[in-house]
Amino acid sequence: LIVPSVLEIVKEKNFTTVPPRYVRPDQGKTEILNDSSLSSEIPVIDMKRLCSVSAMDSELKKLDFACQDWGFFQLVNHGIDSSFLDKLETEVQEFFNLSMEEKQKLWQRNGEFEGFGQVNIVSEDQKLDWGDMFILTTEPIRSRKSHLFSKLPPSFRETLETYSSQVKSIAKILFAKMASVLEIKREEMEDLFDDVWQSIKINYYPPCPQPDQVIGLTPHSDAAGLTILLQVNQVEGLQIKKDGKWVVLKPLRDALVVNVGEILEIITNGRYRSIEHRAVVNSEKERLSVAVFHSPGKETVVGPAKSLVDRQKQSLFKSMSTQEYFDAFFAQKLNGKSHLDLMRI
Ligand code: SIN
Ligand code: FE2
Repeated sequence: LIVPSVLEIVKEKNFTTVPPRYVRPDQGKTEILNDSSLSSEIPVIDMKRLCSVSAMDSELKKLDFACQDWGFFQLVNHGIDSSFLDKLETEVQEFFNLSMEEKQKLWQRNGEFEGFGQVNIVSEDQKLDWGDMFILTTEPIRSRKSHLFSKLPPSFRETLETYSSQVKSIAKILFAKMASVLEIKREEMEDLFDDVWQSIKINYYPPCPQPDQVIGLTPHSDAAGLTILLQVNQVEGLQIKKDGKWVVLKPLRDALVVNVGEILEIITNGRYRSIEHRAVVNSEKERLSVAVFHSPGKETVVGPAKSLVDRQKQSLFKSMSTQEYFDAFFAQKLNGKSHLDLMRI
């Protein structure tokens, strides 16, 4: 199931009509709330305050609210240099501008999840999203695919490695803060994410002459524990589901978008919610984003945290290994939040 490159489609001369495989009459029926008042309610968390002795309590409460009520927040003052983020932007752009011949060497091989391509493609006649992706597992180091790493342009590889370690540290701090506010034993959370499984998905959504006919990324919720997303070139496109409507997430300069994934919903026994989201495209400008997923190690058994279940006296989800959950997730088409039902008791 090798998917074509959307970037190559838009490069074709006289390209004006979207190929049928990308036309999505199944999408776009839900009302879009391009209402900036709701967009501006999406919580913004200040990482410096979260880590400071004097302001921590109020910021922790905000974090707790954000993860329960929205499943999403924007993170500012996260400590990653703005000049480094600019460099990342340039290199991502250059990477997707490589010739098709170069990119083919990094294209997903049949049945593989990593490389250029798309995810959750399970049949030849399945509709496709309007975007190219590049997916790479970065942690644990023993899981890195050397046939991909060795073919990355060296400076891009170095930038990705730096970014991966910076974002991993942020994720670990956020997990610790969540454990503290939920009164999950610190070691319990640390044990889960000690051997953290980190994958990076870089999304490149080319402009589309018929943006209402396509979808950049089908509605889904993330399988991961925690996703940290950078809207690389600050182009709007991410929408999140709130009370049955799509709310536009307006990029804040240099902010990271953090969202709760299904595995974190399971660990928190439903306290924190993974929220359905999608990406739309526009006719003028390409949109680039980098999503970094953090999950427990492949063999780690995931279930509701014991210290929570003991207090709540009820476990809402079954337990299984991260690998088993991911296998089940990727065997299906993306479809809202349906995967989590596999785990409900
Ligand atoms: C994602 O959900 O993986 C990415 C969404 C986006 O491009 O904003
Ligand atoms: Fe996502």
